[in-house]
Amino acid sequence: MTLDIPTGTDDILTSDSHLIQSFANLHGLKQQDARTAIVGAKGAMVTDSEGNELIDGIGGLWCVNVGHGRTEIIDAITEQLKTLDYYSTFYNFTHPAAAELAKKVTSLAPDSLNHVYFANSGSVANDTAVRMLHHYNNLKGRPNKKQILSRVGAYHGSTYLAMALTTPAYSEDWDTAANGLVHHLRSPYQYREGEDGMTEAEFLEVLAKDMTDTIERVGADNIAGFFAEPIMGAGGVLVAPKGYHKRMHEITKQHDIMYVADEVVTAWGRLGEMFSSEAIFGMVPDIICTAKGITSGYQPLSATIISDEIYDVISGPDAMFLHGMTYSSHPAACAAGLANIKILEDEDIPGRVKTTGKIFENALRGLMDIDIVGDVRGSHFMMGLEFVSDKETKETFSDEVNIGLQLAKACQRRGLIARPLGNILILSPTLIMDEKMIMDIEGILRESIVETAAKLRAQTP
Ligand SMILES: Cc1ncc(COP(=O)(O)O)c(C=O)c1O
Repeated sequence: MTLDIPTGTDDILTSDSHLIQSFANLHGLKQQDARTAIVGAKGAMVTDSEGNELIDGIGGLWCVNVGHGRTEIIDAITEQLKTLDYYSTFYNFTHPAAAELAKKVTSLAPDSLNHVYFANSGSVANDTAVRMLHHYNNLKGRPNKKQILSRVGAYHGSTYLAMALTTPAYSEDWDTAANGLVHHLRSPYQYREGEDGMTEAEFLEVLAKDMTDTIERVGADNIAGFFAEPIMGAGGVLVAPKGYHKRMHEITKQHDIMYVADEVVTAWGRLGEMFSSEAIFGMVPDIICTAKGITSGYQPLSATIISDEIYDVISGPDAMFLHGMTYSSHPAACAAGLANIKILEDEDIPGRVKTTGKIFENALRGLMDIDIVGDVRGSHFMMGLEFVSDKETKETFSDEVNIGLQLAKACQRRGLIARPLGNILILSPTLIMDEKMIMDIEGILRESIVETAAKLRAQTP
């Protein structure tokens, strides 16, 4: 069967006027040239409908870890669909791909995390974690222990509940379910939140105090969990001070609060490890939520991986697990997950990232010599560049300048897709970059930033 899908830019964009994009200025997108149609992808590159080859500097959306077009994953999905296209894991049903992936994922997660719930997005993985924690506390006879600690700058997803966990800036003028349920702690964003001259260790004390003060105010008996990304992604690639996660973990344990690590981005090799909580940040959370790189984006899949302690309670004799989505543990998504993890392991992609990711990180840090680059932060293939109009005072460009968007456009003209976020540009490419491609990205960024800075200087009276 041949599907009648348009290939020309005009035809695509005419059909596309019916599509609602995500996190978009929908009004601005009514101008047809505001949109880019991606029509193909191979390796670390994508092709747009005009035939331009672009480096995928954002890995689809922090997710295409093994690169585009891997036939092993595509074949595994096809074979699975031919054998068993769909069956649910509701009630007493299961199927081999879900069972095998559950075994594989829990074998890679920290030792005490041995049970996993598969769904189809990071948002739902986080929603699932909240529902599980609430149910856990009901079963433990603690019906008040329901509130959640999150952080300013966090991004945990876009369902009603996941958005409530997310930083309030992401729901400006929108309602959320946060009221009374979620308390946002201070952001570990030292560049903007730390006082001048403050050391990392001192800033960590400020953040720890904020957490203990909040727990005291809300009452540990009312708090179910603390949600935290090991490195905040969509909040602007915010790296917490050294020792932060270990310290926060200790505080949560002192108060019988569950630690939920949102590893939607930081798992599956992006930082050089399959999971980063224990391997990089030195602590074992009670729950890990992950998605994205678990299939490298070839199929929608997420995982909420829980500790034996939580599982023992929610699977107890008086418990009933009233949670489920039709597409949870979808056979094709589980097959994609298995094939993707096999590639990550067989090719030791996390091990390679330890070297190439560091080269990428260092290359981008070198851009600090440009006057409008205020901060370069992140780790391995998860990097953010923050732009300022004055490096000394860290003054930002005005909203009208829209520096991130200007720079993203300048990069795209030169063959690189980067993601704008206000005054920040995010780079989270596929994990298969070689040194040449890394230097190509650095070169495009440098030229684009220098050109844009010169243009802005010329416009200043
Ligand atoms: C850390 C983190 N958590 C959760 C999510 C939400 O995942 P999804 O978009 O698959 O719902 C994202 C998405 O970018 C994320 O970066």
